[in-house]
Amino acid sequence: MNLIQLRSPDFLIGKILFFAKGLPEILQFLMRQPSKQSLRLSWLLLQVKPKYTMVSARRLINLYDLVQQANALNLSGDIVECGVWNGGSAAIMGAACQDDETQDKVRNFWLFDSFCGLPQPGVQDGKRAQDAYFEGWCQGEIEKVTQIFNQLGLSLGQVKIIPGWFDSTLNATDIKKIALLHIDADWYASVKVVFEELYAKVVEGGFIVLDDYWTWPGCRAAVEDYIKEHQIEGVVLKRIDRHGAYFQKPLQPDRSQEARCSVSLTGFQRKR
Ligand SMILES: C[S@@+](CC[C@H](N)C(=O)[O-])C[C@H]1O[C@@H](n2cnc3c(N)ncnc32)[C@H](O)[C@@H]1O
Repeated sequence: MNLIQLRSPDFLIGKILFFAKGLPEILQFLMRQPSKQSLRLSWLLLQVKPKYTMVSARRLINLYDLVQQANALNLSGDIVECGVWNGGSAAIMGAACQDDETQDKVRNFWLFDSFCGLPQPGVQDGKRAQDAYFEGWCQGEIEKVTQIFNQLGLSLGQVKIIPGWFDSTLNATDIKKIALLHIDADWYASVKVVFEELYAKVVEGGFIVLDDYWTWPGCRAAVEDYIKEHQIEGVVLKRIDRHGAYFQKPLQPDRSQEARCSVSLTGFQRKR
């Protein structure tokens, strides 16, 4: 067993490490922004980490923030997550919707995952991913997803959990519009198929969050290839932390002269 495998939350050591890394992040957040909302968010983070999510506190706070930004910008569409594992990051987005008193629209949540773990990485994912791969890596459970939604008091009425491989599930749904697309699927082929099937459904100004952009080269290459192949201009990528990044879908070329949505983000956002 190598170091990457050992640090995975599929094993006890990984679970302890994820928890130990999360605590200082949460405390730092509370100290930087002492407020009632930060306390609420810290409580949520402690509920989901590490049992239900392997996403860092900083990236979870970013997701919470972006859901509320999508509401503030009045973006229409659903929230979609590709790569759910045990549901922690999805539940944080659900809580963000529920906590937002200004929100009047009901958003559907579409949660896609194999629930069999990651597929095998390909050449674009590099040797580090190929060497570390083992069957069942990041295998989530649907029961845990529903468990954490219930634990946080979130309604499951609007939540659709779709098990299966992305290449057979993403195009078999009737998602019409997407306000926020959270892609947490690590590998080139997985990220690329999400872009191919769902990017067109993201509304202008909608958020595309890439959990693994700086972690795995395949994720980065898939995003770059899609943008190049579709000649998409005006993508301004923002770094969240050592691993994640996000951008807002640019306006279509014929509307690019119109005012762009301007977003001011709080919390741990670092724009580079
Ligand atoms: C890093 S985990 C997701 C972590 C999760 N967002 C959290 O809160 O901890 C990656 C997930 O992507 C799923 N996945 C990756 N590629 C996939 C594919 N092609 N089809 C279906 N699921 C996939 C895996 O099953 C795994 O649960």
